[in-house]
Amino acid sequence: MGLTDKEYDYWELPAAFVKMYGGNKEDVRVYASPARINIIGEHIDYNGGKVFPASIDRYLYVAIRKRADSKIIYNDVRFPGTYEFDINDNFAYDKKNDYANYLNGILSQLKEKGYSLPCGFEILMVSNVPAGGGISSSSALECGFAYAVSDTFNLNIDRVEIAKLGQMSEHNFMGVNCGIMDQFIIATGKKNTAEMLDCATLDYEYAPLDLGDYRFVVMNTNKVRKLSDSKYNERRSQCEQALKILQNNGVKINALCELSSEKWEEVKHFVSDEVLQKRAKHCVYENERVLNAVKALKTGDLSELGRLLNASHKSLKEDYEVTGIELDTLAETSQKQEGCLGSRMTGAGFGGCAIALVRNDKVEPFIENVQKEYTKKAGYCAGFFACETGDGVFRIL
Ligand code: GLA
Repeated sequence: MGLTDKEYDYWELPAAFVKMYGGNKEDVRVYASPARINIIGEHIDYNGGKVFPASIDRYLYVAIRKRADSKIIYNDVRFPGTYEFDINDNFAYDKKNDYANYLNGILSQLKEKGYSLPCGFEILMVSNVPAGGGISSSSALECGFAYAVSDTFNLNIDRVEIAKLGQMSEHNFMGVNCGIMDQFIIATGKKNTAEMLDCATLDYEYAPLDLGDYRFVVMNTNKVRKLSDSKYNERRSQCEQALKILQNNGVKINALCELSSEKWEEVKHFVSDEVLQKRAKHCVYENERVLNAVKALKTGDLSELGRLLNASHKSLKEDYEVTGIELDTLAETSQKQEGCLGSRMTGAGFGGCAIALVRNDKVEPFIENVQKEYTKKAGYCAGFFACETGDGVFRIL
């Protein structure tokens, strides 16, 4: 993924589909499912916090057509191998099924909820979202597939339910205890806006993403990681432990992000373990940064937004400890560049991507300078692209 990488053009997908499966192009439907950036509010979706993500104009495409029999067939333009199943299968995770697990995960959750399909279908996919890159390739896959199946078979599953299906599939099938943020923004995002989502209630509100002369540049460490091999679940359980300690000491909260920073300072001594205390501190202050960031954006104070991005990165580095040399190099080098108001890691961390808010006329020298420094430190190149917002999952053809 770089500025020069060729993106797959979705117009080519129906022809590729017919070449693979036969029949007519007219019977093939194509759905687009976006990547996301999280502007701010990291690792707090599973702590009852508020998050501020945006869906962006990098898409995964799912082409689908019903079959006359009960077979299910998956293919991907770029990944080798054909995966075959049947609508009557009991879908279970199997390592050798690779990406097909994400799709079977959705089918298993649909079954669980009592949906049944009258016939099989065939799928051809292609993604312009880098796999394991931190901008939610897996949620794009889950929600894109769930939406395609729901629409094709008239299951009428609403967008919030699509997001929940994706999350349930991660929990029950893939073994990742993720929050709801990624699936939610991918299912409900709107072009030209970011979305302020309250993860405790699932209330959400769109905020116009008016960045004037600035835009977000996405920077990929190119260090691939999988949430399941990362320390993601460990961080989540550390937060749960901190919460329990507070509750056992009479602090009346259901989630860490219910605490204001003032209240936290009063009660933090209960969490005597230094590591747990740092994790909880990040959650409380990150939640406040989200509220301030939304305010800053509403009043057009982009410098303040930038400052909050930098503070968020520092907290994720020092207190939540989910960054690492690659993300720190990208964010900290970015923060020093002319025309850059702020930068932070985005997503789960441990590799993946960072974002920077950069003035339009400085994007080129910005990328050149950050790339130079990154290559020196990491020994390989980072990927860069300046992004626009995009719509949540939709039918494109
Ligand atoms: C991953 C998870 C999200 C969220 C982020 C960190 O992207 O899927 O639910 O927890 O990490 O903010």
